[in-house]
Amino acid sequence: MPGMMRAMASEKQVTPSDRSGGAWRKGEKEPPCDVCAAFRRPRSVSEVAEWDLNAKWFGVSPLVLMENAGAAVARAVRERRPEARRIAVFAGSGGNGGDGLVAARHLSAWAGVDVYLCAAPDRLRPEDARVNWELVRNSPFIRTRTCPRAEDVHELARLLDEREAYDVVIDALLGAGSRGVPREPIRSAIEVIRAQRRRGAFVVSVDLPSGHPETGRVEADLAVTFAWDKDEYQKEPFPRVVVPIGYPVDVAFRAGPADVQALVAHSWTRKGERGSVFVLGGSARYPGAPLLAARAAHLLTDLVTVSVFAEAPHSAVPHELIPLRLPGKMFTREHLPLLEEALRRAHAVVVGPGLGRHPETICALRRLWPLLAARGIPVVVDADALVAWSHPRLRREALPDAHLRPFPAVLTPHAGEFRRLAAFLGLVLPESKAEGEVGSTPDAPPLVAEACAVLELARKARAVVLRKGPVDVLASSDRWAYNTTGDPGLTTAGTGDVLAGLVGGFLARGAAQGLLPSGEGLAFRAAKAAAFVNGLAGEIAAGERGGPWYTAEDVLRSLPAALRRAAEFA
Ligand SMILES: NC(=O)c1ccc[n+]([C@@H]2O[C@H](COP(=O)([O-])OP(=O)(O)OC[C@H]3O[C@@H](n4cnc5c(N)ncnc54)[C@H](OP(=O)(O)O)[C@@H]3O)[C@@H](O)[C@H]2O)c1
Repeated sequence: MPGMMRAMASEKQVTPSDRSGGAWRKGEKEPPCDVCAAFRRPRSVSEVAEWDLNAKWFGVSPLVLMENAGAAVARAVRERRPEARRIAVFAGSGGNGGDGLVAARHLSAWAGVDVYLCAAPDRLRPEDARVNWELVRNSPFIRTRTCPRAEDVHELARLLDEREAYDVVIDALLGAGSRGVPREPIRSAIEVIRAQRRRGAFVVSVDLPSGHPETGRVEADLAVTFAWDKDEYQKEPFPRVVVPIGYPVDVAFRAGPADVQALVAHSWTRKGERGSVFVLGGSARYPGAPLLAARAAHLLTDLVTVSVFAEAPHSAVPHELIPLRLPGKMFTREHLPLLEEALRRAHAVVVGPGLGRHPETICALRRLWPLLAARGIPVVVDADALVAWSHPRLRREALPDAHLRPFPAVLTPHAGEFRRLAAFLGLVLPESKAEGEVGSTPDAPPLVAEACAVLELARKARAVVLRKGPVDVLASSDRWAYNTTGDPGLTTAGTGDVLAGLVGGFLARGAAQGLLPSGEGLAFRAAKAAAFVNGLAGEIAAGERGGPWYTAEDVLRSLPAALRRAAEFA
């Protein structure tokens, strides 16, 4: 944890030969702990965009991040060229341009600054870039010129050719949002910057050289990139420094709307393309539980099949669900061949809600795991099915073999089930301090100590673990996260079934639409998205009922609003 804080706080120089970027290197003094290592690794550009969105949800204004980014660029220029008197900023229409405009504001207190906006001002996106353009345009200390067309840039080029070159040129034309070969007027503006460099200007790119990785890119003496070195920048390296811009550490670990958006990309699909879930649950004692899970899963997918036992009391199966009618009053070995059809069409299976713990059911479940593993169907293991994962008479070796992957499994224990699983897998937990808190160590905050325990359990179980509680903590073999949406009323019966259905729904949707490669990463993301949405639905239900006076049915009814809020957040 202390190492993590240091990584956030200081500028890090990365040279083209330093291909490890921000990752830990052998021989460095402090070994990464599992928790910190997750924070230090380089990130993809799309991952950073997700963190921007989540940071906004947590209350970190994008305007603040832009201010910090631009100020860091200005600092880097001042440190490297303290004698510079004439500085030009070439800004594009996106966030990268906005960072450049902030740098112009900071530098104008110290040198002569000319800003060339290579876009029509009304095309500036995001809003924060527009705010900064207005500030720059109205400053009596900065000269501005707009060049929305290629001809405008050509005219500028002729003008600049007749003058002495700038001491420093800041390239803020295109950043991480760049797509394909630069179009006009950016292409011509890149040429102007290249010409300035040939004539002696020191060129500093914001985030990355505009046009990267295309051939006609800006040649930068330095790029100032933000918060994390990106995977993409290491493939075609350029000289750069990585500077912090004020992301809270939480953003690397906390579930947010970006996790939902990664799995529910809006697009028209044909019937069935949003995936199919099979919910195996129910018994004479708990006939309603699988229906709660199935209805939650159906909000995300096109087809949901749910088991119904002929001799169990009947809850009416909603017409939109497909009942799989099974003889008897609980799940047994005899039913395994009857699951064939439902398994064949399922992109994910939810096992557990209301199944009961009859020894015959436990025995049948132990035979079900290898069947699912052999087919590579992602599975959510919930409630009573967790007993079959940690039953004292079950040999540990009988758990689905990691070599049979892809078999992403998500286990969804509450605190008590978590302790049972840990005991079964031989994991020693520190003394429990409070309900929902699996332990604490003297040198780590409670949440981090919990994360370590959940991470260890996930590795031992060879599954993603979502430990439900006042704060949900989840982990896969190489990462962990937590979720803070929720409400005290979510301890009411049935909300765990809704959560299990959501995990299944997200898993199936992600797998069917190929939004993420199938496997552990998809399972982790599905669990994170489900925890976030389930908690949000609890908050909405509590808001409508004026407190924790609601049932699982109310949470289910609040799910569309919660999903919409997460999916449409921008
Ligand atoms: N942690 C971080 O790293 C971090 C965090 C926050 C902000 N930032 C800053 O924000 C930047 C990303 O901002 P952004 O997403 O708005 O993207 P951007 O890199 O500023 O570019 C987006 C703009 O460029 C245009 N564009 C894209 N490809 C083009 C091409 N080939 N030719 C001409 N124009 C093109 C787009 O127009 P169309 O829409 O018309 O295509 C859009 O207006 C980063 O590079 C960084 O500077 C970084």
